[in-house]
Amino acid sequence: MTVQFFEADKDFGTPKRQSDKTVSLWIDDFQVSVPEGTSVMRAAAEIGIQIPKLCASDNLESFGSCRLCAVEIEGRRGKPASCTTPAEEGMRVTTQNDALAKLRRNIMELYISDHPLDCLTCPANGNCELQDMAGAVGLREVRYGFDGENHLEGEKDESNPYFTFDPTKCIACSRCVRACGEVQGTFALTMGHRGFESKITAGADDSFMDSDCVSCGACVQACPTSTLMEKSVIDHGQPEHAVVTTCAYCGVGCSFKAEMKGDQLIRMVPYKGGEANMGHSCVKGRFAFGYATHTDRVTKPMIRDSIDQPWQEVSWDEAFNYAANKMRSIQEKYGRESIGGITSSRCTNEETYLVQKLIRAGFGNNNTDTCARVCHSPTGFGLKVTLGESAGTQTFESVLYSDAILVIGANPTDAHPVFGSMLKRRVREGASLIVADPRSTSLVSSAHVKASQHLQLLPGTNVAVINALAHVVITEGLEDREFIASRVDDGSYEQWRKHISDPKHSPESVAEITGVSADTLREAARTFAKAPNGSIYYGLGVTEHSQGSTMVMGIANLALATGNIGRLGVGVNPLRGQNNVQGSCDMGSFPHELPGYQHVSDDAVRAKFEAVWNVSLDNEPGLRIPNMFNAALDGVFKGMYVQGEDIAQSDPNTAHVEAALKSLECLVVQDIFLNETAKFAHVFLPGSSFLEKDGTFTNAERRINRVRKVMKPLAGMADWEVTQAFSNALGYPMNYQHPSEIMAEIAQLTPSFAGVNYQRLEEQGSIQWPCNDQQPDGTPIMHTDSFPIGKAQFAITEYVPTEERSNRRFPLLLTTGRILSQYNVGAQTRRTENQQWHPEDQLELHPIDAEDRGIQTGDTVSIASRMGTTVLKALVTERMQPGVVYTTFHHPGSGANVVTTENSDWATNCPEYKVTAVQVNKVTGESDWQAQFKQFDKRQRDFLASATGEKA
Ligand code: SF4
Ligand code: SF4
Ligand code: SF4
Ligand code: FES
Repeated sequence: MTVQFFEADKDFGTPKRQSDKTVSLWIDDFQVSVPEGTSVMRAAAEIGIQIPKLCASDNLESFGSCRLCAVEIEGRRGKPASCTTPAEEGMRVTTQNDALAKLRRNIMELYISDHPLDCLTCPANGNCELQDMAGAVGLREVRYGFDGENHLEGEKDESNPYFTFDPTKCIACSRCVRACGEVQGTFALTMGHRGFESKITAGADDSFMDSDCVSCGACVQACPTSTLMEKSVIDHGQPEHAVVTTCAYCGVGCSFKAEMKGDQLIRMVPYKGGEANMGHSCVKGRFAFGYATHTDRVTKPMIRDSIDQPWQEVSWDEAFNYAANKMRSIQEKYGRESIGGITSSRCTNEETYLVQKLIRAGFGNNNTDTCARVCHSPTGFGLKVTLGESAGTQTFESVLYSDAILVIGANPTDAHPVFGSMLKRRVREGASLIVADPRSTSLVSSAHVKASQHLQLLPGTNVAVINALAHVVITEGLEDREFIASRVDDGSYEQWRKHISDPKHSPESVAEITGVSADTLREAARTFAKAPNGSIYYGLGVTEHSQGSTMVMGIANLALATGNIGRLGVGVNPLRGQNNVQGSCDMGSFPHELPGYQHVSDDAVRAKFEAVWNVSLDNEPGLRIPNMFNAALDGVFKGMYVQGEDIAQSDPNTAHVEAALKSLECLVVQDIFLNETAKFAHVFLPGSSFLEKDGTFTNAERRINRVRKVMKPLAGMADWEVTQAFSNALGYPMNYQHPSEIMAEIAQLTPSFAGVNYQRLEEQGSIQWPCNDQQPDGTPIMHTDSFPIGKAQFAITEYVPTEERSNRRFPLLLTTGRILSQYNVGAQTRRTENQQWHPEDQLELHPIDAEDRGIQTGDTVSIASRMGTTVLKALVTERMQPGVVYTTFHHPGSGANVVTTENSDWATNCPEYKVTAVQVNKVTGESDWQAQFKQFDKRQRDFLASATGEKA
């Protein structure tokens, strides 16, 4: 038995089938009707008859190797395996009789005769399918003994930091192999040899760590024995209760069972009932949770007058009063607009709502912003203009109905891994894949996946590419005229059609600018437009450009022109980065919008909020993050409240950000660690991890998922309680008893959340907004019949080259991105064993550029831009194209953002992280910035240590 049975955990043995035709059969004299194609095993499970099984699981195609599931079927010879036998009309099946019982016992005897009999000391004891099956078939003796040949001497593979592989326990059921292929899509495992010699191997008989394994854990979950087993269970024993909650890493929003022993988290198991992930996970959510209880957690409030002083631990009340007095005296001296705050896209919706409320109602201005400023703000703008709503249009599952998938500026196998696995599955099933990316990511070509076209464009030329695709659609008559006529505004279409038909947008005209051949562009446009269902998925490679918003509108144009909006398998899908970045935007984090994207200048909207918040609100949009920095350097912005966001590491042009932070008179940082931003702070308020609080996150599909408290907040207060207490100290009263009350207020004031409440979330599991009287169960697919603006609008998308150009001094273009094992600024993943996969950021460059500079993999190289210089280790790789270099930004000492510029999207100020002209040279030591960083970092750590009494 598992630790705790949830209805969704039930295993029907083989996957669900969909068919218009049903068949009726009799199983043990009970009649059942199932869709054609359903296995006998599943049909039996549907009416509660559990046929013994070992190699079957309902997330894997049946395999038929263990034979334990044998049944008798009237009129058929032998005893067929029920997992591989499809149900047929009128079939009569017997699942239990003496002959079947004897057969099953014999099979189990054979298994057990080659299995160590150490159940009492086995880590899977109490949670082992082999043990369960031995019980189910009534095994009482093993006649064969252990003297013959067996596998009991096999060597354990402990190379993976999170799980072990003990071949002595393996029953060769192949579930792990199939999970790695079918569910994860990595194909790292094989069943080598045959018969008795059968053996699971990772890669070419490598260790797990040396193979292609990405440590997603699907094989561990699939394994019916303790062969593949979490080290945390080996160390601490089986958990005893479980709580369903939501991953706090990326925007996929996977549901997990947090399996606990008392208040100790033993393991995170992907929850089958989670509609975003359907029981799958990646290495981060599955295994990288140790940061939550890491010794680096700061759990006492601290204050100091200056960043040149040591921290002083104080009581919560002292910290709140100190911060409130400072903020109020700054406002008295410099004016109401002189302070502001940044909400967190890692915190819950309820917490984010409270922070923006505190700023608008407590600070009395609209100086609130969020990390979406530096990631998906162009999505909000571009989709609102064209489709009328600032969010993606589909469910993740929709990709399984897509025939042509266009991925632009996104690397889902690394940044949104569970969605990446779904996408790869659809491609293996036959969908066409077009990838637009300056790099050859693993989607372009990997095991069983190959893009039909790779548009390996030069950074900064997205808009030229999307325009060329749309040009082909229009000039070759591939548009969906019926859709356009019925769903799109005529005037905007006519204007756009004229604009896009201009020969300057033709593939031939832009081939040189983009670096993509005209033929490839034409083929890609045809592949996409001719597919019955074409879907577009995009990431920060679209938004983080000076034309980020233009590109988002270009994507919407292409979807509209080809009629790919409003049903399963199509749509415009931003792959949003942080776990709750969709939610933080929905909750009114932007300076111009109250929750639900309601503009602050709208009198009726403000009146509604004013009545509930009991305060009068500013009707002018406040400062965006870059404006806050500029105002700070101008001496007119002096106080900031930052919750769960590390702007010192994540925002561009580090020197500028650091100077702005240093100029503040009061910086209040609320976080779980003393992050890079906190090193510039005067007040530190300890935050709480996702395990320590109740609330909700909203993922990239607009899916609102519950976050459930599994342990007490380490510092005594959840983040929402901290914000509430700070607000009360400021003199703006808040008195919520539970996050559900905050959600009730959100629903009252936000039309798209009107029907959301905790009870409905408990009943439904999750809800995709809009959820209101018209859509009481939520809205999985947007714009099915109409758009919020009636008819959709085409937008004119002129390509304007970025000002950031390469020249003789800076001849290469730097672009940035993420890696699977690390997450964002790395504050969480760097404090886990994930460090083993990516202990440092590296600079990737093409062999030609490396050779020109005499650089080899492992060499120390400087990367210099107009903004600054940093130094990294080089990785020479064919993944890059000549002229383009790439790095990640997961380690603060790497200083990737020392190099990036302040160029930004024309509409939203989203920084142009993806294009920086640089020069790369071999060097021997660190950069000046890195030397300063180390010194500053050491000093601040000492200041922390002197407060906490710990060693720095
Ligand atoms: S952990 Fe994931 S990638 Fe690695 S072998 Fe198992 S299923 Fe495959
Ligand atoms: S490792 Fe586990 S899942 Fe894989 S074949 Fe062996 S027993 Fe089956
Ligand atoms: S895909 Fe994203 S949400 Fe899912 S487990 Fe991985 S990091 Fe968490
Ligand atoms: S469960 Fe059917 S053959 Fe193994």
